[in-house]
Amino acid sequence: METLVSLCKRRGFVFQSSEIYCGIGSSWDYGPLGVELRNKIKRVWWRDFVQRRPDMLGLDASILMHPTVWKASGHVDNFTDPMVDCRECRHRFRVDQLAETPWVHYCPATKGNKFTIPAGGACSHCGAARTLCPDCGKGELTPPRQFNLMFKTLMGPVEEDAAVTYLRPETAQGIFVNFDNVLQSMRRKLPFGIGQIGKAFRNEITPGNFIFRTREFEQMEIEYFVNPHETVEGRPADEYWHDRWIEDCVAWFRRYGIQSDNLRLHEHARDELAHYAKRTADVQYRFPIGWSELMGIANRTDFDLKQHAKFSGKALTYFDEERKEHVVPYVIEPSAGVDRALLAFLADAYREEEVRGEKRVVLRFHPELAPVSVAVLPLLKKRDDIVRTAHAIRDELSRDLTVVYDDTAAIGRLYRRQDEVGTPYCVTVDVQTVGDSDKGEPADGKVTIRDRDSMEQIRVEAARLAQVIGDLLRGTAWAEVAAGAGRS
Ligand code: GAP
Repeated sequence: METLVSLCKRRGFVFQSSEIYCGIGSSWDYGPLGVELRNKIKRVWWRDFVQRRPDMLGLDASILMHPTVWKASGHVDNFTDPMVDCRECRHRFRVDQLAETPWVHYCPATKGNKFTIPAGGACSHCGAARTLCPDCGKGELTPPRQFNLMFKTLMGPVEEDAAVTYLRPETAQGIFVNFDNVLQSMRRKLPFGIGQIGKAFRNEITPGNFIFRTREFEQMEIEYFVNPHETVEGRPADEYWHDRWIEDCVAWFRRYGIQSDNLRLHEHARDELAHYAKRTADVQYRFPIGWSELMGIANRTDFDLKQHAKFSGKALTYFDEERKEHVVPYVIEPSAGVDRALLAFLADAYREEEVRGEKRVVLRFHPELAPVSVAVLPLLKKRDDIVRTAHAIRDELSRDLTVVYDDTAAIGRLYRRQDEVGTPYCVTVDVQTVGDSDKGEPADGKVTIRDRDSMEQIRVEAARLAQVIGDLLRGTAWAEVAAGAGRS
């Protein structure tokens, strides 16, 4: 994790928020390359799950919603973590996490000797089992108290009169309260889904592990509405679609380069299930901190629509023409964090390789996700014609792609810099491209494309460059493109 955090800062992916003021806990800013990576993750997710599917529609609901939304959804009463506080150092801990960490104990039976007791263990001398703070080892811990994770805020200019509301802790509720608006305006038949990407806020007790758990984060969520009275392939429709969505989500992460060995499913046990869920499966990723949740896919049943109907007094039903009855749809909810997905793509892409006796750090991002798609590098920055041609190529490619121009080092160094940020293709303009009139050498009008992963190079006509790069980014294999061009 430290290696990734340091690379992210050094190369402009992620910065500590408000760093010049010593930073603010668990808030991170995405730098020039981070914002490109983030936008590309969101773009391909939206394209694959919303745009390309005939059964999906999009939505962008507001962050501030009517406060009753959170009463109806159960968040006011249930979105809590049991917490204990240290009476001495005032540190606050989640009860479930205490059981998973070793603790420091000053044992009275051995005249105050200090021991580190393994997670869940008791002192073999005095028998104490975590009576004291795991951090300072001195203070008593308070009995558990419920702590609501929603950020409260005030709507309205005069504090006393303003209504208390919350920053949304999930984007999902914006979809549920718009269910009928979408149904009526778009005239859909079940099953259909609504996708949304947006910020969510949770006053996490124990944020940390870089961008893994933060208080402000972004979600890519789908609420997929199915008719609970239908069966598909002999199974209840909600159960069938739940499995389909689990498969589709895992396949999506694999398609964009996550190695299969680093993905696994985790079925929630009964006592782990959220208050609304019939079944939840998490897709876990082998993060640098160990196997942890990358996304969750829950069967929320008809809980949310029924709750909002009850609290708002508006019917949130679908008319089943075949059975001539109103039904409250069941909902399958694939919910992924943008920041967690970004961390997984980053961790999975990171490689340290040895090339001709030297260490090469490379981010093997899927070409569609790489923050920079193409780097244009002039071989000689003192030759005006080379520089001019390189700038013209940059301008042309940047109409559709993220392109950088760099002439601030020798070519080997420039390649390494691009490898380290995962740029899949570098384009080099050299003397052969523009010719050398002093030596009577004509221009061949070709440029070199270098492939990040194989480090192979091919020469192609500059006039065909945009087409060739486009093919590569759309998935044509390097070997196929190389076969049609001369290797250099
Ligand atoms: N609407 C369902 C829902 O919000 P969740 O499991 O609480 O379910 C879904 O969150 C996803 O959002 C998680 O799998 C994770 O990727 C992301 N997420 C949740 N809390 C987060 C946090 N504090 N920081 C970063 N990402 C978070």
